[in-house]
Amino acid sequence: MSKTEAAAAGTGRSSLGGEIVERINQLGAISETPEHLARIFLTPEHRTAADLILSWMRGAGMSAHLDAIGNVCGRYEGERPGLPCLMLGSHYDTVRDAGKWDGPLGLITAISCVADLYKRERRLPFAIEVVGFADEEGVRFASTLLGSRAVAGTFVESVLNSRDHAGISMREAMVQFGLDPDHIGAAARARRELHAYVELHIEQGPVLEQHDLPVGVVTAIAGATRLAAHLTGMAGHAGTVPMALRRDALAGASECIVAIEGFCKTDEDGLVGTVGYIDAMPGATNVIPGRVNFTIDIRAPTDAHRKLAVADIVRRIEAIAKRRNLALQVDVTHENRTVPCAPWLKGQVAEAVAAEGYPVFELPSGAGHDGMAMIDIADVAMIFVRCRGGISHHPDEHVEPADADAGARVLLRLIENFRPREV
Ligand code: GLV
Ligand code: MN
Ligand code: MN
Repeated sequence: MSKTEAAAAGTGRSSLGGEIVERINQLGAISETPEHLARIFLTPEHRTAADLILSWMRGAGMSAHLDAIGNVCGRYEGERPGLPCLMLGSHYDTVRDAGKWDGPLGLITAISCVADLYKRERRLPFAIEVVGFADEEGVRFASTLLGSRAVAGTFVESVLNSRDHAGISMREAMVQFGLDPDHIGAAARARRELHAYVELHIEQGPVLEQHDLPVGVVTAIAGATRLAAHLTGMAGHAGTVPMALRRDALAGASECIVAIEGFCKTDEDGLVGTVGYIDAMPGATNVIPGRVNFTIDIRAPTDAHRKLAVADIVRRIEAIAKRRNLALQVDVTHENRTVPCAPWLKGQVAEAVAAEGYPVFELPSGAGHDGMAMIDIADVAMIFVRCRGGISHHPDEHVEPADADAGARVLLRLIENFRPREV
């Protein structure tokens, strides 16, 4: 008998890890292309995944529906219908060439926990809701956390007009998906309907592995700023325009990228900066690039530190653009403050971790999560599960089945022992 099975047997519970891994693989097969996992907001594969998740939720004894923005929402009633809920969830969209676990682990684990309660005919003095958020990654449109912002009632309507790289607006994509962009407001929930929001997620970093721990208690989710930079120079003939007379937007962007990297590297307090997307126009071997768009993602352990760094980076790339005679426009496409996990709720996560026999280890989240939006209507806590090598946003992302099971047991313990905050 494995350690996990023995632990499960000791609590009288069956191991949930096997079912979770099986479903992770099933969802991981729903992708834009079979070779590289990509399940992007409002695409046909996103819809196929939503239908599969709906069926899992119904099989776990929940009523389930797709809400106005494409979140998959399941509800397991408490001892009587209509009680406020403990909301659990994570996202079911992915980055491009993604791993299978980022998002789906939390969602699938929450469904398995509810299924376990349902099998034991256990009803609690509160309802449980599980939400598969539609867009946490923000890959397709300029903004991010679109699903959870809709639930929190903070969705910004102007985002509907933003366009993806193929020129399709979010409004058009919603209609293609079968949603009504004029009714996003219907997804919003009120604070009084929720006792709290708890998300289980893979760590996406190496810290738990370094400490030889399967699970951790999250202290806070680091804030982030995303910028879209547009550089404009002058396109021209690659053979005729002398080097000294060029206004090459791509060479300028390259200098900006190296400057951003250099600036962040010299910081000793956890600042990280990434240029993850770039396009150059007109995009031909024999034409000097006249226009370039690129993104900048900046994160730091504190909001003050991040804001100072963003201002400094913008000043640096402005200077580069000026020296190269390029026009620069920088737009803020996403800004989220650091979100602390609520002490009362974090305390209950820690109790559940200890009750399952693991040391209580606290760590911050450098990655963004839907809790960053949910904080506007609920107190938030997170459980992290160890991932191999700290690898994430990469196809090698991996969680051992025993760790998936450990996470599930902690979440189930938390649910069964959950006490709403006393007010
Ligand atoms: C989401 O994974 C993010 O942190 O950007
Ligand atoms: Mn995630
Ligand atoms: Mn992610």
